[in-house]
Amino acid sequence: MKKILITGGSGLLGVNLAIRLRKKFKVFILTNKKTINIPSTISIDGKAYLNEQKDYLKPDIVINTVALTNIELCEDNPYLAIEANLKYLELLVVLCKKNNSKLVHISTDHLFDGLNSFSSEDSYVNPVNQYAKTKLEAENYVQNEISNALIIRTNFFGWGPSYRNSFSDIIINTLKQKKEIFLFEDAFFSPVSTRRLSEIIVKLFEHDTHGIFNVSSNDRISKLHFGLIMCDYFQLDNSLVSSSSLEHQKHLTKRPKDTSLSNEKVSNFLMFDCGSVANNINDLNYDIKDGIRNEILKL
Ligand SMILES: NC(=O)c1ccc[n+]([C@@H]2O[C@H](COP(=O)([O-])OP(=O)(O)OC[C@H]3O[C@@H](n4cnc5c(N)ncnc54)[C@H](OP(=O)(O)O)[C@@H]3O)[C@@H](O)[C@H]2O)c1
Repeated sequence: MKKILITGGSGLLGVNLAIRLRKKFKVFILTNKKTINIPSTISIDGKAYLNEQKDYLKPDIVINTVALTNIELCEDNPYLAIEANLKYLELLVVLCKKNNSKLVHISTDHLFDGLNSFSSEDSYVNPVNQYAKTKLEAENYVQNEISNALIIRTNFFGWGPSYRNSFSDIIINTLKQKKEIFLFEDAFFSPVSTRRLSEIIVKLFEHDTHGIFNVSSNDRISKLHFGLIMCDYFQLDNSLVSSSSLEHQKHLTKRPKDTSLSNEKVSNFLMFDCGSVANNINDLNYDIKDGIRNEILKL
């Protein structure tokens, strides 16, 4: 069995990848501040491991999900963004070079100024905040240092652990509590489920490919529309979903209004249908059926 090391093991994507990949691979997760125990995987203290000069693990594949994902925090404390989004990566690059491990680096759909729809891997990047700037620098660094690295640009949702709610969790939890939720009518994206994202990541590294791949759904929708589709799939009260505007959120750090990505490259390369946003939302139901949601909620 190949050994996979997942960094950011306590994060939303880290947890989802670890639980989904452990049947096929020997999964090790690197933790930072939050310790976590996922059955049938091995948790390792990240600081101790990365400072270790002799690597006892020698992973075949390293998936880097570490980032400071709070956009306001990145803007107010750029040094924290640099530490998580860049400095940490530098340590991983050393580790991958030493062990000849395949590096899969998770990037973002946030690299653009938001004036265009369905950005491709070759579209002009123009980051508008510190989060995006450090994520772009990370991509450039990886490409310069490791020629066969795989970089995934994406945006995702899915079941999160109790301490880390995803966008879909926030919608479900708010509406189940009979509270009103405000969602942007003028912010557009093309998110995938963590279920589909995990499947595509595995397919990509099994094809031993490299370079940048967008992983997104086939369509582009507003955050408001996303909330309304969630209501249909989870029998939630759509009268509690109200429209708001990103344009009017002057207190927020600047964000791109359209982060939709084209998935043409990955779809053609893998001959795989990434599905509509609705198909991806329905993946949450498959996670309920096969017990993945319950397992994640227990963490
Ligand atoms: N969530 C999304 O919708 C989304 C969209 C686009 C792209 N992405 C990208 O997808 C990846 C995963 O995102 P996510 O939402 O799963 O992130 P997340 O839930 O915020 O988790 C981030 C992980 O990084 C760790 N971490 C943070 N700062 C660190 C540091 N300085 N040193 C070591 N570890 C550190 C955290 O551990 P501790 O909490 O223990 O510190 C946590 O395990 C990121 O690269 C993100 O940029 C996410």
